[in-house]
Amino acid sequence: MSDDRPVLLEATGLKKYFPIQRGFFRRTVGYVRAVDGVDLVIHEGETLGLVGESGSGKTTVGRLILRATDVTEGTIRFHRDGQVLDLTRVPRSQLREYRRETSVIFQDPFSSLDPRMTVLDIVGEPLRIHGIASGDELRRRVRELLQLVGLRVQHMNRYPYAFSGGQRQRIGIARALALRPRLIVADEPVSALDVSIQAQVLNLLRSLQQQFNLAYLFISHDLAVVSHVSQRVAVMYLGSIVETAPVDALYSTPRHPYTEALLSAIPKSDPDETRSRIILPGDIPNPADPPTGCRFHPRCRYARDICRAERPVLREIAPRHQVACHLADELRLTGVAAPAGAQNAHGIEQTG
Ligand SMILES: Nc1ncnc2c1ncn2[C@@H]1O[C@H](COP(=O)(O)OP(=O)(O)O)[C@@H](O)[C@H]1O
Ligand SMILES: [Mg+2]
Repeated sequence: MSDDRPVLLEATGLKKYFPIQRGFFRRTVGYVRAVDGVDLVIHEGETLGLVGESGSGKTTVGRLILRATDVTEGTIRFHRDGQVLDLTRVPRSQLREYRRETSVIFQDPFSSLDPRMTVLDIVGEPLRIHGIASGDELRRRVRELLQLVGLRVQHMNRYPYAFSGGQRQRIGIARALALRPRLIVADEPVSALDVSIQAQVLNLLRSLQQQFNLAYLFISHDLAVVSHVSQRVAVMYLGSIVETAPVDALYSTPRHPYTEALLSAIPKSDPDETRSRIILPGDIPNPADPPTGCRFHPRCRYARDICRAERPVLREIAPRHQVACHLADELRLTGVAAPAGAQNAHGIEQTG
Protein backbone atom coordinates (compact mmCIF):
# COMPACT_ATOMS: atom_id res chain seq x y z
CA MET A 1 0.00 0.00 0.00
CA SER A 2 2.67 2.50 0.97
CA ASP A 3 4.62 1.58 -2.15
CA ASP A 4 1.94 3.33 -4.20
CA ARG A 5 2.88 6.60 -2.60
CA PRO A 6 5.50 8.76 -4.25
CA VAL A 7 9.10 8.24 -3.22
CA LEU A 8 10.40 10.95 -0.90
CA LEU A 9 13.94 9.81 -0.21
CA GLU A 10 16.17 7.17 -1.74
CA ALA A 11 19.57 6.14 -0.38
CA THR A 12 21.86 3.90 -2.40
CA GLY A 13 25.11 2.26 -1.36
CA LEU A 14 25.45 4.47 1.71
CA LYS A 15 28.69 4.12 3.63
CA LYS A 16 30.14 5.88 6.62
CA TYR A 17 33.64 4.97 7.76
CA PHE A 18 35.10 6.69 10.83
CA PRO A 19 38.89 6.78 10.84
CA ILE A 20 40.64 5.27 13.86
CA GLN A 21 43.63 7.43 14.70
CA ARG A 22 46.54 6.54 16.94
CA GLY A 23 49.61 8.14 18.40
CA PHE A 24 50.95 11.64 18.56
CA PHE A 25 50.63 12.20 14.81
CA ARG A 26 47.10 10.81 14.78
CA ARG A 27 47.94 8.36 12.06
CA THR A 28 44.93 6.54 10.60
CA VAL A 29 45.31 2.87 11.49
CA GLY A 30 41.91 1.63 10.36
CA TYR A 31 38.23 2.45 9.96
CA VAL A 32 35.07 1.82 11.93
CA ARG A 33 32.64 0.77 9.23
CA ALA A 34 29.57 2.12 10.99
CA VAL A 35 27.44 2.03 7.82
CA ASP A 36 28.67 -0.26 5.10
CA GLY A 37 26.43 -0.33 2.06
CA VAL A 38 22.86 0.59 2.96
CA ASP A 39 20.03 0.99 0.43
CA LEU A 40 16.68 2.30 1.56
CA VAL A 41 13.60 4.10 0.29
CA ILE A 42 11.15 6.24 2.26
CA HIS A 43 7.80 7.15 0.68
CA GLU A 44 5.80 10.30 1.37
CA GLY A 45 3.76 10.03 4.55
CA GLU A 46 5.07 6.60 5.52
CA THR A 47 7.03 5.30 8.49
CA LEU A 48 10.04 3.15 7.84
CA GLY A 49 11.14 1.44 11.04
CA LEU A 50 14.88 0.83 11.43
CA VAL A 51 15.73 -1.76 14.07
CA GLY A 52 18.81 -3.57 15.31
CA GLU A 53 20.95 -3.95 18.41
CA SER A 54 22.91 -1.06 19.79
CA GLY A 55 26.00 -0.45 17.65
CA SER A 56 24.47 -1.69 14.39
CA GLY A 57 24.69 1.75 12.75
CA LYS A 58 21.11 3.05 13.03
CA THR A 59 21.93 6.48 14.42
CA THR A 60 24.64 6.94 11.81
CA VAL A 61 22.15 6.15 9.02
CA GLY A 62 19.82 8.79 10.47
CA ARG A 63 22.61 11.35 10.62
CA LEU A 64 23.66 10.60 7.05
CA ILE A 65 20.11 11.06 5.82
CA LEU A 66 19.84 14.38 7.65
CA ARG A 67 23.24 15.29 6.20
CA ALA A 68 24.37 15.96 9.76
CA THR A 69 27.53 14.07 8.88
CA ASP A 70 29.39 13.63 5.59
CA VAL A 71 28.81 10.56 3.49
CA THR A 72 31.88 8.38 2.83
CA GLU A 73 30.27 6.81 -0.22
CA GLY A 74 26.84 6.45 -1.82
CA THR A 75 24.03 8.77 -2.85
CA ILE A 76 20.95 10.21 -1.16
CA ARG A 77 18.21 11.59 -3.38
CA PHE A 78 15.41 13.74 -2.05
CA HIS A 79 12.30 14.32 -4.18
CA ARG A 80 10.57 17.67 -4.00
CA ASP A 81 8.19 19.47 -6.31
CA GLY A 82 8.92 17.06 -9.13
CA GLN A 83 12.66 17.65 -8.79
CA VAL A 84 15.32 15.36 -7.45
CA LEU A 85 17.95 16.78 -5.16
CA ASP A 86 21.13 14.75 -4.92
CA LEU A 87 22.09 15.50 -1.32
CA THR A 88 25.57 14.12 -1.66
CA ARG A 89 26.37 16.64 -4.41
CA VAL A 90 24.35 19.78 -3.70
CA PRO A 91 26.09 22.99 -2.68
CA ARG A 92 25.78 24.10 0.95
CA SER A 93 23.21 26.77 0.06
CA GLN A 94 20.74 24.14 -1.12
CA LEU A 95 21.47 21.99 1.86
CA ARG A 96 20.02 24.78 3.99
CA GLU A 97 16.71 24.44 2.16
CA TYR A 98 16.82 20.69 2.65
CA ARG A 99 17.34 21.24 6.37
CA ARG A 100 13.98 22.99 6.49
CA GLU A 101 12.26 19.93 5.11
CA THR A 102 13.75 17.51 7.61
CA SER A 103 14.11 17.39 11.35
CA VAL A 104 15.00 15.07 14.15
CA ILE A 105 13.53 13.83 17.41
CA PHE A 106 16.04 12.47 19.93
CA GLN A 107 15.70 10.03 22.77
CA ASP A 108 16.31 12.88 25.20
CA PRO A 109 15.73 16.20 23.48
CA PHE A 110 17.24 18.12 26.36
CA SER A 111 20.60 16.48 26.72
CA SER A 112 21.84 18.67 23.86
CA LEU A 113 20.03 21.85 24.86
CA ASP A 114 20.76 24.66 27.23
CA PRO A 115 18.74 24.07 30.42
CA ARG A 116 18.42 27.85 30.71
CA MET A 117 16.27 28.04 27.59
CA THR A 118 12.52 28.30 28.04
CA VAL A 119 10.03 26.25 26.04
CA LEU A 120 9.41 29.32 23.93
CA ASP A 121 13.14 29.55 23.10
CA ILE A 122 13.48 25.84 22.41
CA VAL A 123 10.46 25.43 20.17
CA GLY A 124 10.91 28.81 18.51
CA GLU A 125 14.63 28.44 17.79
CA PRO A 126 14.34 26.83 14.33
CA LEU A 127 11.93 29.60 13.29
CA ARG A 128 14.35 32.25 14.49
CA ILE A 129 17.42 30.64 12.94
CA HIS A 130 15.75 30.38 9.57
CA GLY A 131 14.45 33.94 9.84
CA ILE A 132 10.83 32.84 9.56
CA ALA A 133 9.34 34.51 12.60
CA SER A 134 10.20 36.74 15.53
CA GLY A 135 8.47 38.70 18.28
CA ASP A 136 4.70 38.29 18.50
CA GLU A 137 4.53 36.17 15.37
CA LEU A 138 7.05 33.76 16.91
CA ARG A 139 5.00 33.52 20.10
CA ARG A 140 1.87 32.86 18.05
CA ARG A 141 3.55 30.05 16.12
CA VAL A 142 4.99 28.46 19.25
CA ARG A 143 1.55 28.59 20.87
CA GLU A 144 0.11 26.77 17.86
CA LEU A 145 2.85 24.14 17.98
CA LEU A 146 2.33 23.51 21.69
CA GLN A 147 -1.38 22.97 21.09
CA LEU A 148 -0.60 20.52 18.31
CA VAL A 149 1.42 18.31 20.62
CA GLY A 150 -0.99 18.59 23.55
CA LEU A 151 0.95 20.94 25.84
CA ARG A 152 -0.38 23.88 27.75
CA VAL A 153 0.30 27.22 26.18
CA GLN A 154 0.67 28.79 29.64
CA HIS A 155 3.81 26.71 30.18
CA MET A 156 5.65 28.49 27.39
CA ASN A 157 7.94 30.40 29.74
CA ARG A 158 8.94 27.42 31.84
CA TYR A 159 12.24 25.57 31.73
CA PRO A 160 12.76 21.94 30.73
CA TYR A 161 13.33 20.64 34.26
CA ALA A 162 9.77 21.59 35.16
CA PHE A 163 8.37 18.91 32.83
CA SER A 164 8.00 15.14 32.98
CA GLY A 165 9.77 12.87 30.48
CA GLY A 166 6.68 12.51 28.32
CA GLN A 167 6.06 16.26 28.29
CA ARG A 168 9.67 16.94 27.42
CA GLN A 169 9.40 14.61 24.47
CA ARG A 170 6.32 16.57 23.36
CA ILE A 171 8.39 19.74 23.49
CA GLY A 172 11.00 18.00 21.34
CA ILE A 173 8.29 17.02 18.88
CA ALA A 174 6.92 20.57 18.76
CA ARG A 175 10.40 21.84 17.94
CA ALA A 176 10.81 19.18 15.24
CA LEU A 177 7.52 20.31 13.67
CA ALA A 178 8.33 24.02 13.71
CA LEU A 179 9.48 24.25 10.09
CA ARG A 180 6.73 21.98 8.75
CA PRO A 181 9.15 19.27 7.63
CA ARG A 182 8.26 16.43 5.29
CA LEU A 183 10.64 13.92 6.85
CA ILE A 184 11.47 13.39 10.51
CA VAL A 185 14.20 11.11 11.77
CA ALA A 186 13.01 9.86 15.16
CA ASP A 187 15.96 8.25 16.93
CA GLU A 188 14.76 6.07 19.83
CA PRO A 189 12.07 8.67 20.60
CA VAL A 190 10.31 6.67 23.30
CA SER A 191 13.14 4.50 24.62
CA ALA A 192 13.62 6.61 27.75
CA LEU A 193 9.89 6.69 28.62
CA ASP A 194 7.65 4.44 30.73
CA VAL A 195 5.55 2.03 28.70
CA SER A 196 2.30 3.85 29.53
CA ILE A 197 3.77 7.14 28.33
CA GLN A 198 5.31 5.49 25.26
CA ALA A 199 1.86 4.67 23.92
CA GLN A 200 0.73 8.29 24.21
CA VAL A 201 3.78 9.62 22.41
CA LEU A 202 3.51 7.00 19.65
CA ASN A 203 -0.16 7.87 19.16
CA LEU A 204 0.76 11.55 18.92
CA LEU A 205 3.38 10.78 16.27
CA ARG A 206 0.82 8.82 14.28
CA SER A 207 -1.80 11.50 14.45
CA LEU A 208 0.71 14.17 13.36
CA GLN A 209 1.73 11.95 10.47
CA GLN A 210 -1.86 11.81 9.26
CA GLN A 211 -2.43 15.53 9.67
CA PHE A 212 0.71 16.61 7.85
CA ASN A 213 1.54 13.67 5.59
CA LEU A 214 4.84 13.34 7.44
CA ALA A 215 7.33 10.60 6.68
CA TYR A 216 9.32 9.11 9.56
CA LEU A 217 12.51 7.15 9.74
CA PHE A 218 11.71 5.57 13.08
CA ILE A 219 14.82 4.18 14.77
CA SER A 220 14.56 1.79 17.70
CA HIS A 221 16.25 -1.25 19.20
CA ASP A 222 12.78 -2.44 20.26
CA LEU A 223 10.80 -4.38 17.64
CA ALA A 224 7.59 -4.20 19.64
CA VAL A 225 7.69 -0.41 19.57
CA VAL A 226 8.52 -0.29 15.87
CA SER A 227 5.52 -2.45 14.98
CA HIS A 228 3.14 0.17 16.40
CA VAL A 229 4.15 2.91 14.06
CA SER A 230 5.77 1.45 10.94
CA GLN A 231 4.35 0.37 7.63
CA ARG A 232 7.66 -1.16 6.62
CA VAL A 233 10.62 -2.26 8.69
CA ALA A 234 14.32 -2.60 7.90
CA VAL A 235 16.52 -4.72 10.16
CA MET A 236 20.12 -3.62 10.51
CA TYR A 237 23.10 -5.66 11.62
CA LEU A 238 26.69 -4.41 11.80
CA GLY A 239 26.36 -1.66 9.23
CA SER A 240 24.00 -3.17 6.69
CA ILE A 241 20.37 -4.04 6.21
CA VAL A 242 19.76 -7.78 6.44
CA GLU A 243 16.00 -7.81 5.89
CA THR A 244 13.24 -5.42 4.94
CA ALA A 245 9.52 -6.04 4.51
CA PRO A 246 6.05 -4.69 5.24
CA VAL A 247 5.49 -4.87 8.98
CA ASP A 248 3.08 -7.84 8.96
CA ALA A 249 5.32 -10.00 6.78
CA LEU A 250 8.44 -9.21 8.76
CA TYR A 251 6.87 -10.14 12.09
CA SER A 252 4.86 -13.18 10.97
CA THR A 253 7.31 -14.68 8.47
CA PRO A 254 10.83 -13.42 9.08
CA ARG A 255 13.35 -14.72 6.54
CA HIS A 256 16.62 -13.76 8.25
CA PRO A 257 17.91 -15.63 11.33
CA TYR A 258 18.85 -12.32 12.97
CA THR A 259 15.28 -11.04 12.63
CA GLU A 260 14.00 -14.33 14.04
CA ALA A 261 16.26 -13.92 17.08
CA LEU A 262 15.17 -10.31 17.67
CA LEU A 263 11.51 -11.29 17.40
CA SER A 264 11.95 -14.14 19.85
CA ALA A 265 12.80 -11.58 22.53
CA ILE A 266 9.42 -9.81 22.25
CA PRO A 267 7.20 -10.79 25.20
CA LYS A 268 4.38 -13.09 24.11
CA SER A 269 0.98 -11.50 23.85
CA ASP A 270 -0.74 -14.88 23.37
CA PRO A 271 -0.01 -17.55 26.02
CA ASP A 272 -0.58 -20.30 23.42
CA GLU A 273 2.36 -19.15 21.35
CA THR A 274 5.05 -21.80 21.37
CA ARG A 275 8.10 -19.82 20.34
CA SER A 276 10.98 -19.56 22.78
CA ARG A 277 13.69 -16.99 23.15
CA ILE A 278 16.78 -17.40 20.99
CA ILE A 279 19.88 -16.28 22.83
CA LEU A 280 22.51 -14.98 20.42
CA PRO A 281 25.99 -16.06 21.47
CA GLY A 282 28.56 -13.29 21.94
CA ASP A 283 28.30 -9.58 21.31
CA ILE A 284 27.88 -7.63 18.14
CA PRO A 285 31.37 -7.84 16.51
CA ASN A 286 33.71 -4.90 16.16
CA PRO A 287 32.72 -2.90 13.06
CA ALA A 288 36.39 -2.02 12.54
CA ASP A 289 37.12 -5.69 11.92
CA PRO A 290 33.91 -7.34 10.73
CA PRO A 291 33.67 -11.13 10.20
CA THR A 292 34.23 -12.54 6.72
CA GLY A 293 31.33 -13.67 4.58
CA CYS A 294 27.95 -13.05 6.18
CA ARG A 295 28.62 -10.70 9.08
CA PHE A 296 26.08 -12.50 11.19
CA HIS A 297 27.56 -15.99 10.74
CA PRO A 298 29.54 -16.21 14.01
CA ARG A 299 26.27 -15.81 15.94
CA CYS A 300 23.96 -17.69 13.58
CA ARG A 301 22.74 -21.14 14.55
CA TYR A 302 22.09 -22.09 10.93
CA ALA A 303 25.48 -21.02 9.51
CA ARG A 304 27.22 -23.24 6.94
CA ASP A 305 30.46 -23.01 4.96
CA ILE A 306 29.09 -20.64 2.35
CA CYS A 307 28.11 -18.20 5.11
CA ARG A 308 31.71 -17.99 6.29
CA ALA A 309 33.00 -17.46 2.76
CA GLU A 310 30.61 -15.22 0.86
CA ARG A 311 28.83 -12.04 1.83
CA PRO A 312 25.13 -12.39 0.89
CA VAL A 313 23.44 -9.53 -0.94
CA LEU A 314 19.97 -8.18 -0.27
CA ARG A 315 17.56 -9.87 -2.70
CA GLU A 316 13.80 -10.04 -3.15
CA ILE A 317 12.40 -13.28 -1.77
CA ALA A 318 8.69 -12.37 -1.86
CA PRO A 319 6.91 -9.24 -3.10
CA ARG A 320 8.38 -6.24 -1.25
CA HIS A 321 10.28 -8.59 1.05
CA GLN A 322 14.07 -8.52 0.78
CA VAL A 323 16.63 -10.55 2.66
CA ALA A 324 20.40 -10.98 2.70
CA CYS A 325 20.84 -14.65 3.66
CA HIS A 326 22.26 -17.56 1.63
CA LEU A 327 19.83 -19.99 3.25
CA ALA A 328 16.65 -17.93 3.12
CA ASP A 329 14.95 -20.21 0.59
CA GLU A 330 15.20 -23.31 2.74
CA LEU A 331 14.97 -22.03 6.31
CA ARG A 332 11.57 -22.08 8.00
CA LEU A 333 11.87 -19.42 10.67
CA THR A 334 9.53 -18.60 13.54
CA GLY A 335 7.77 -15.26 13.67
CA VAL A 336 5.38 -13.75 16.17
CA ALA A 337 1.61 -13.50 16.21
CA ALA A 338 0.27 -10.46 14.34
CA PRO A 339 1.79 -7.27 15.71
CA ALA A 340 -1.77 -6.05 16.32
CA GLY A 341 -1.69 -8.21 19.47
CA ALA A 342 1.36 -6.37 20.70
CA GLN A 343 -0.37 -3.10 19.91
CA ASN A 344 -3.19 -3.94 22.27
CA ALA A 345 -0.72 -4.86 24.95
CA HIS A 346 0.56 -1.30 24.73
CA GLY A 347 -2.95 0.10 24.76
CA ILE A 348 -2.68 1.53 21.28
CA GLU A 349 -5.66 1.37 19.01
CA GLN A 350 -4.99 0.16 15.55
CA THR A 351 -5.95 2.25 12.60
CA GLY A 352 -5.85 1.27 8.97
N1 LIG B 1 31.73 9.71 15.58
C1 LIG B 1 32.09 8.42 15.63
N2 LIG B 1 33.41 8.08 15.59
C2 LIG B 1 33.78 6.78 15.63
N3 LIG B 1 32.94 5.74 15.69
C3 LIG B 1 31.61 6.02 15.73
C4 LIG B 1 31.12 7.36 15.70
N4 LIG B 1 29.76 7.34 15.75
C5 LIG B 1 29.43 6.03 15.81
N5 LIG B 1 30.53 5.24 15.80
C6 LIG B 1 30.55 3.77 15.83
O1 LIG B 1 29.76 3.30 14.76
C7 LIG B 1 29.03 2.15 15.13
C8 LIG B 1 27.54 2.39 14.90
O2 LIG B 1 27.09 3.36 15.84
P1 LIG B 1 25.60 3.93 15.85
O3 LIG B 1 25.27 4.43 14.50
O4 LIG B 1 25.51 4.88 16.98
O5 LIG B 1 24.75 2.61 16.14
P2 LIG B 1 23.30 2.43 16.79
O6 LIG B 1 22.56 3.73 16.68
O7 LIG B 1 22.66 1.33 16.02
O8 LIG B 1 23.54 2.03 18.22
C9 LIG B 1 29.39 1.86 16.57
O9 LIG B 1 30.42 0.89 16.59
C10 LIG B 1 29.90 3.19 17.06
O10 LIG B 1 30.84 3.00 18.10
MG1 LIG C 1 21.65 4.88 18.19
